[in-house]
Amino acid sequence: DIKGFVFDLDGVITDTSVFHSQAWHQVADKVGAPWSKELEDGLKGISRMDSLEMILKAGNLQDKYTEDQKVALATEKNTNYLKLVNKMTPANILPGIKAFLDEIKNGGYLLSLASASKNAPTVLDKLQLTDYFPKIVDPKSLSKGKPDPEIYIKGAELIDLDPAQCIGVEDAAAGVESINAAGETSIGIGDKQILKDADINFADTSEMTLANIQKQMN
Ligand code: G6P
Ligand code: MG
Repeated sequence: DIKGFVFDLDGVITDTSVFHSQAWHQVADKVGAPWSKELEDGLKGISRMDSLEMILKAGNLQDKYTEDQKVALATEKNTNYLKLVNKMTPANILPGIKAFLDEIKNGGYLLSLASASKNAPTVLDKLQLTDYFPKIVDPKSLSKGKPDPEIYIKGAELIDLDPAQCIGVEDAAAGVESINAAGETSIGIGDKQILKDADINFADTSEMTLANIQKQMN
């Protein structure tokens, strides 16, 4: 039986995936790496430094920058990202999410957050959702990022559940892979082509209700 939900943040609870993309696009332009829809989708769920590596690789630029220069590029991206985050309000919560969080909270389900973002606490604060997530996986504690299952296994551990008792919610292919490898039931939100490995698919967050999840469970 399902007893808990492990949530991704960016692109699931809020529209920050657009802000991440915007800020990375600026970096790509700066270093002269080609920007594509494929790269944009591939970056979703990927840690800050790994994202930078992917962008540099797309432009065959991995060896052009020293470690210090890479850190400087990632820091600049984060500064630009935080400028966008600082303008956020609860209006940036994606459609239906607040209602769904209330529905599962009132239904007695446990909740944790499995975001790769070091900015997750700041984003939750801006959205005024901090109280919903007393349990957050610390991305600094991870040895491997998504698609490795570690982050979703930790998300279940934080709420004292077996992965089999949890549903993971993701907008990224790397994230769905992580949920599946952890042994949780996966919900993919967004393009069904990209999230084809998810157990349950929703085109957007407004479709996510317990009743609609039930319909796709077998
Ligand atoms: C999430 C986002 C990624 C982002 C990563 C790290 O997984 O989907 O786009 O790169 O977090 O975020 P951070 O805020 O720590 O740079
Ligand atoms: Mg995401």
